[in-house]
Amino acid sequence: MRDTEERNTERNTERNKEQALVAIEGLRVSFPSLRGKIWPVDDVSLRILPGETLGLVGESGSGKSMTSLALMGLLPRPHGKIEAGSIKFRGRELVGLGDAEMRGMRGKDISMIFQDPMTSLNPVYTVGDQIIEAVRAHERITRAEARRKAVEMLDRVGIPSPEKRVDAWPHLLSGGMRQRVVIAMALVLRPTLLIADEPTTALDVTIQAQILCLMEDLKRDFGMSVLLITHNMGLVAENADRTAVMYAGRILEEAPTKELFGAPSHPYTRGLLDSIPRMRGMDRELKAIPGMVPALHDLPPGCRFANRCSFCEARCRIEEPPFFSAPRQGASGVHSVRCWQFCEERTVN
Ligand SMILES: Nc1ncnc2c1ncn2[C@@H]1O[C@H](COP(=O)(O)OP(=O)(O)O)[C@@H](O)[C@H]1O
Ligand SMILES: [Mg+2]
Repeated sequence: MRDTEERNTERNTERNKEQALVAIEGLRVSFPSLRGKIWPVDDVSLRILPGETLGLVGESGSGKSMTSLALMGLLPRPHGKIEAGSIKFRGRELVGLGDAEMRGMRGKDISMIFQDPMTSLNPVYTVGDQIIEAVRAHERITRAEARRKAVEMLDRVGIPSPEKRVDAWPHLLSGGMRQRVVIAMALVLRPTLLIADEPTTALDVTIQAQILCLMEDLKRDFGMSVLLITHNMGLVAENADRTAVMYAGRILEEAPTKELFGAPSHPYTRGLLDSIPRMRGMDRELKAIPGMVPALHDLPPGCRFANRCSFCEARCRIEEPPFFSAPRQGASGVHSVRCWQFCEERTVN
């Protein structure tokens, strides 16, 4: 039985490799800092399949946004650099691609929603003009046609009287409405991949739920993939097909979401789950796990979570664990964990 399951899992892994829309392999992003070079993203490998939502969770500062900015070709300049690894989108290598080519992909192939809608909206343009510009940067259509698309998309994201709101200034809209505009802007070109980086953090609970519901509808209708980045475990539990847990630049655990929540294996993941309030409306900040994330310029030689881990043994402080396969590996996909507790299990590549 176990054998068959293992074979299925291996087959699934192989299939995932072939079919991945996004395949990030060994990605390392560096920055100079006053105390020497740091790697906010350090040997990260992730896959996103067509039509799937991948959740990327972790406390603030773990490297989630840097991972997504690397994917978008938008790392802060001039200091942020991709030092190693590969990012393939539909099999095409994005690392090393020129600015013009990357611009061509943004919006059309890959689109992004940031945490704060005002950072994505230009205050001196009306809502409609911004969406129209986004459309016309990629499609040869008339202004009137682009405007019609903008109104249609504003309607689709649940903005009332879209034909009026299309001429509104961003600062006159509520936070929830602005975020809807940003989503409309991100989706008007029907991207294949939507990166949503803390898309609801700035919004109140009811609006959050509405926005996620809306993203789910649009995902189903347009068949797009989503990279959902958040510090909120509740959000990934409800919205992601698979989830990866990030900590101090590394992925520590990755599994189909159901399995991650049913059999969380890394002590860090368990800590994150324990900090979820036991009730619906899991919108709160995570209750802090005791201890601090290590500074990126002063990382421990062993496991990066060792100083906060109640299962820490001598070995954990000396040698960093590779990925092991978690014990309750299902046939639905790989469940891998970077923790010595699982070293009896198979090593996962
Ligand atoms: N502009 C920057 N220059 C140098 N280092 C940065 C910059 N922005 C972020 N970092 C470093 O990268 C780490 C990861 O940041 P980030 O990806 O934004 O984390 P997250 O999105 O998980 O909260 C931060 O802890 C910080 O050390
Ligand atoms: Mg972030």
